[in-house]
Amino acid sequence: MDVSKVFEFPIKQFNPQPRALIGPGAWELAGPEAAAMGLKHVLLVTSGLRGTGIVDEVKRNLEDAGVAVTVYDKVESNPKDYNCMDAYKLFTEQQCDGFISVGGGSSHDTAKGARIVAAHDGRNINEFQGLNKSEKLESPPHIAINTTNGTGSETTPGYVITDLSSPDAPHKWVGFDRAAITTLAINDPLLMMTQPIQFIGFTGFDTLAHASECYVSRVEHLSATPLALRAVTLVAENLREAYANPRNYEAMANMCWAQYTAAQAFSSGFLGILHSLSHAVCAYYDIHHGLNNGVGIARVWAYNVPAATRKFADIARAMGVDTTGMSNVRAADAAIDEVIRLTKDVGIPDNFASVQPYPRSRIGQGWYAKRPTEIKSDDTELQKMAQHMMDDVCTPGNARTLSLEDAYEILRDCVYDPMACKTAAGYGYFTERQVGAR
Ligand SMILES: [Fe+2]
Repeated sequence: MDVSKVFEFPIKQFNPQPRALIGPGAWELAGPEAAAMGLKHVLLVTSGLRGTGIVDEVKRNLEDAGVAVTVYDKVESNPKDYNCMDAYKLFTEQQCDGFISVGGGSSHDTAKGARIVAAHDGRNINEFQGLNKSEKLESPPHIAINTTNGTGSETTPGYVITDLSSPDAPHKWVGFDRAAITTLAINDPLLMMTQPIQFIGFTGFDTLAHASECYVSRVEHLSATPLALRAVTLVAENLREAYANPRNYEAMANMCWAQYTAAQAFSSGFLGILHSLSHAVCAYYDIHHGLNNGVGIARVWAYNVPAATRKFADIARAMGVDTTGMSNVRAADAAIDEVIRLTKDVGIPDNFASVQPYPRSRIGQGWYAKRPTEIKSDDTELQKMAQHMMDDVCTPGNARTLSLEDAYEILRDCVYDPMACKTAAGYGYFTERQVGAR
């Protein structure tokens, strides 16, 4: 029987999680853990985390445990194919036997990519995009020390790389690969408190994107969705305070759990077109993944509401909205109002055209050096980005089936229009309301 004609995702997959250490001071266990794994010489992969001193402290911690360290600190935001290949080259030249990634998703994803390249004797990383594309499942051990309240890459099978060298370039692709799962994930709220304030808002919206996309996904993985909804609540209750007061440990510790549990959820429950949108915009403009998600989230929720109205009503309640007496449709609208309010409270701009400069360790090289800093996509570029969205591995699991025309309209709205609660059956034909209006 061909069940695929009836069910889109008839067989669910549970992806195992790596062992994890979570809590204040957890990063100091990296050295002893690496030594216990038998590692002698690791490649420390990072963007540098300028001004924090974290990289030097982790290096010393490893050396004190008898593990030699070579540092690759040239990881870019939205890691590029050349970051993976350069890290692999250094790993091989220095005869390393394991990876330590320190930072956010860019550092972990670069190390994951370099491991996959190492497992396949130096083949180009762009050959491994898609679901479980590794032919060899054994790769060097990897400890991921996460310093952001977003990503989840320290614990998921996912990694995202920007192809700047093949005929498909620029193309930001997702590898969702059981061979990419790390050996040990370390989440330390104290490290997360060292982030630039803007990043706390941006990465918080990556977490909310992971949680909400997994919750409304058509995959409907029932051991993932309760975790996803819990992560929505943790973000709604803690992101403002973590952003507004960098010394609020409790708020950041709760965001640490939010990002970790949201990632556990989407490891099996998958994502949706908010991530497809974010990948497309990053491919053309190389801006922060979480910032993209913050700009796009209200638009994508509005687009998805007709296909998952009850689930968005659940999200409203999870965010603390009193939905007593509301229909599911009204409650779903309230969720959109609530998320727009949160974007405004944590520094997410109204649209891509109003993105302001923010701290970043490295600017993308090559193709990006010639790109405008302002986002002003014309019709041709919007069409290309819309096609990029359609082709993304996250699109099939989205709550609502995406058309090329709708992808174009959502992107155009994100680039130019004010963020507002929009309701109607079809995107592009919405009646706009101001935030808070009922
Ligand atoms: Fe993400």
